[in-house]
Amino acid sequence: MIDPVAGFLRDGWLRFAAEPAVLAWAAHALPVAIDAATDPANAHWLRCGGTWFVGVDTLPNDAAGRVAEGPALTGAAQDFIRRHLGPALPLHRAQLSICYPGYPQPMPGESEAAFGFRRDRDAAHVDGLLAQGTPKQRFLREPHAWILGVPLVTGQGDASPTVLWEGSHAIMREAFARAFRGIDPACWGELDITGIYAEARREAFLRCPRVVLELQPGEVCLFHRHLLHGMAPWAEEAVAPACGRIIAWFRPQRALLQTWMDSDLDGRSGESQMPDPVIPA
Ligand SMILES: [Fe+2]
Repeated sequence: MIDPVAGFLRDGWLRFAAEPAVLAWAAHALPVAIDAATDPANAHWLRCGGTWFVGVDTLPNDAAGRVAEGPALTGAAQDFIRRHLGPALPLHRAQLSICYPGYPQPMPGESEAAFGFRRDRDAAHVDGLLAQGTPKQRFLREPHAWILGVPLVTGQGDASPTVLWEGSHAIMREAFARAFRGIDPACWGELDITGIYAEARREAFLRCPRVVLELQPGEVCLFHRHLLHGMAPWAEEAVAPACGRIIAWFRPQRALLQTWMDSDLDGRSGESQMPDPVIPA
């Protein structure tokens, strides 16, 4: 079995087996998540004809992940992050990404190409690259440290599972390194990276296997911040509880934009540096 550190660097993601601490956290967070999703004050987060609750920052957890009087979010993934991915970062309020039968449906004003990309390419994206203007331009605005997905409710038979392109973080990283080379990091956030991002994404589709990740409650997935990932359509035969398929996502940001391109595992004080990931053949 490959060492988890080497696996994370090679594949750009890790899956952690179900464990009681995560199950307890998820069981406690679930009713709060359902309340948040049905709160009229959060109705503006419904997209795609009501089939996707985007739910950014809608889980009222504290910096340790505690929801109300519940347990902190702990477990093997948190241990891995602490040991290998740099100084501990406080958790923000989690995104609650909830899908319902029929996802995706076209949105008013959504172009056919944009809807097609959502339906046929799982709305594949790298987090932190925000779109602005018409036509949309992409800019690096959120230097995430890592991305952690904690399922609260899972469906069966492709109820909009998370998908990822294994190894794509290396292709993305190389493309962005080229884009930012020679540019003052203070200006990175103003650099239009639309073209290079689209090109790198196309390359990742060609070269990286698409992995469908139907996580069960108690499991956790950890993504490299440059990993291309998305969400598959809700298959006709899929079944899930009425509350929908729910995943809580944590993606804490570092203070400086330039840290987004730092070497991986650079936060491991006193330990040998790992090489940058190898681009898959
Ligand atoms: Fe994402």
